[in-house]
Amino acid sequence: MPLDVIVTRTKHSNLEKVNLANPQFGSLISDHMFTCSFNNGQWGEAEVVPFENISMSPATLALHYGQTVFEGLKAFKMAEGSINIFRIEKHHERFNASLDRLCMPHVPKDLFVNALKKLVATDADWIPGDGGGSLYLRPIIFASEARFGVKISNQYRFIIFGGPVGNYFQEPLKVKVERKYNRAAKGGTGYAKCAGNYAGAFYPTRLAQDEGYDQVLWTDSKLNEYVEELGMMNAMFVIDGKLVTPPLSDSILDGITRDSLLKIARGENIETEERDISITELQAAFKEQRITEAFGAGTAAVVAPIAVIAIDGVDYHLPEYGSNNLMFRLKQRLGDIRTGAEADTYGWNYIVSAQA
Ligand code: COI
Repeated sequence: MPLDVIVTRTKHSNLEKVNLANPQFGSLISDHMFTCSFNNGQWGEAEVVPFENISMSPATLALHYGQTVFEGLKAFKMAEGSINIFRIEKHHERFNASLDRLCMPHVPKDLFVNALKKLVATDADWIPGDGGGSLYLRPIIFASEARFGVKISNQYRFIIFGGPVGNYFQEPLKVKVERKYNRAAKGGTGYAKCAGNYAGAFYPTRLAQDEGYDQVLWTDSKLNEYVEELGMMNAMFVIDGKLVTPPLSDSILDGITRDSLLKIARGENIETEERDISITELQAAFKEQRITEAFGAGTAAVVAPIAVIAIDGVDYHLPEYGSNNLMFRLKQRLGDIRTGAEADTYGWNYIVSAQA
């Protein structure tokens, strides 16, 4: 039996006040949110309610010790009017993997799926209909117990809200190879989508931005020599005509866009390599003109082209990009699968009726 989600609709929709055409990422929030609490070892009532502020004690554990995990996924309007929540199962698996790492309770699959289904059906009119837009969905769980002793929380709050989004970045990025600060260490939380990973990235990113760069290209915490991630995305390159990306590890997020692009590329018999990429190799590939593309891959940005990579004070320029570049062709195919213009032979789409 499907888990019941009680829906209370808002009487004051904000929809008519907003413009859904390419809004800045994170600037708009749709009318409703999903909410559910975990107490005494079990999940309670599941509800979709009008989006609202929450009140909490200053002693709330999440605020002090950072037990907070989130996901980011997207819902698309399909050509025939239904809604597609892209790769919902893989997002659910990754959510639970992050929750494990932070000692937080799993979210059962039927709770995750039914919550998202009800929320997107309730806010279906918020999904941009064209131009590559989507409804970005942000599930979060945080430790809600009000007690400031250092401990694993016994209580949690699970909320999902979202908002319409368009392009994340407007221009190709200038990035700086970061050799001093690290995003994640071996044995740490780098593979989990926990808030602390992002907080720790702000300072080095701000330093890079003060030097005129947009993002940092993170390197490994031991040698500061091997590429890990790019800002808050997976890093991908085209070197010698092959699609190359660092292998997954405990310091790299198992990116769902990364996985989708690799699978689409392999389906086209494009050679792909998941292997260590050293900064020395990148330098040589630039000098020998063997690197033709560099980009970030993530749910929010999908594909973020890189124009410049600064290595130890020297700016290396990627060649001018055109629509025939591999990253744009893969992005187009991914977009076509998500909106139904291309058949979903991978089984990635989760179709929801707007009346669900
Ligand atoms: C995403 O790409 O969806 C992310 O979660 C990265 C960022 C927007 C926090």
